[in-house]
Amino acid sequence: MNNDERVTDLTCIDIDGKTMLYGVIGNPVKHSFSPRMHSLAFQKLCINAVYVPFLIQEDHLPGLMNAFSIIGIQGFNITLPFKEKIVPYLDSLSEEAELLQSVNTVIKTHGGWKGYSTDGSGFMRSLAAAKIALSQKKVLLAGAGGAARAIAVSLAKAGVAEISIVNRTQQKAEKLADLIYRVSPALAVRTAISRDSSPDIVINTTSVGMNDDKCPLADEILQDCKWIIDIIYNPPVTPLLKKAIGRSISHMNGLDMLLYQGVEAFEIWTGQKAPVDIMRQSLIASVYPDTNGDASLS
Ligand code: ATR
Repeated sequence: MNNDERVTDLTCIDIDGKTMLYGVIGNPVKHSFSPRMHSLAFQKLCINAVYVPFLIQEDHLPGLMNAFSIIGIQGFNITLPFKEKIVPYLDSLSEEAELLQSVNTVIKTHGGWKGYSTDGSGFMRSLAAAKIALSQKKVLLAGAGGAARAIAVSLAKAGVAEISIVNRTQQKAEKLADLIYRVSPALAVRTAISRDSSPDIVINTTSVGMNDDKCPLADEILQDCKWIIDIIYNPPVTPLLKKAIGRSISHMNGLDMLLYQGVEAFEIWTGQKAPVDIMRQSLIASVYPDTNGDASLS
């Protein structure tokens, strides 16, 4: 990265009467990395806009879109716990958001507020950036929550050969299998681990390993796989990724998924190619403050 691209070298934007407003709603929201990342991206592209956090309560939702229209917000992100709860208040949804009934990005359009889900597409861009091929691959997905749903739908559209879902609550694995079937009826979907089919790619979407030293999957399952991906980004190296490193299996943590869901949101709002390097640098500085921006990740 050139010195002139470093976060610290960007000059402060000149806020004036034409400055546009973007933001993120959530509760809590003060730990969000998005305000810094998006504000820097706007600066980098000389877009006269700022991005701020909004701490809201659930009972604010019915009046929120009206309030945002009045103050002229152009677009916003949604984080926990409102990704599903915001849906009834929007005017339209992208195909993916409709399918998932979950929204993390909203833009003001001529037709009103339109919701998108960039978690799945952000994940896919992180795979593409790491040159992970998906065609005809067998994928094992640990977890069946919101992130798993977004990822599974994107994988199903990307032409993988098989998706196996393992989840603590079996009923949720089966519900996710039904959703995948709606997207891709011909795809082989399992809700258990098969002894005769070892996965090429293993993806952890559970929180196991985030605050404990547990691994979400048994060692035998990892035996022949080529890629291990953990969508946890903090710690940067989870117990699952330690196993990948110990076995010399290619691996990736969740920082790039976090990055690219933001990149996709930025591109929806601006119609411009996002400044990915500056956004990554901002995230690394925020998520891993002790590394001085030079982290060697996962
Ligand atoms: P996210 O939006 O990050 O996907 P989520 O929707 O709450 O979060 O999903 C969390 C996932 O982690 C679920 O698959 C959950 O399993 P259950 O469906 O059984 O709840 C999984 N998970 C969380 N804690 C877990 C634990 N201690 N052991 C196994 N799985 C766990």
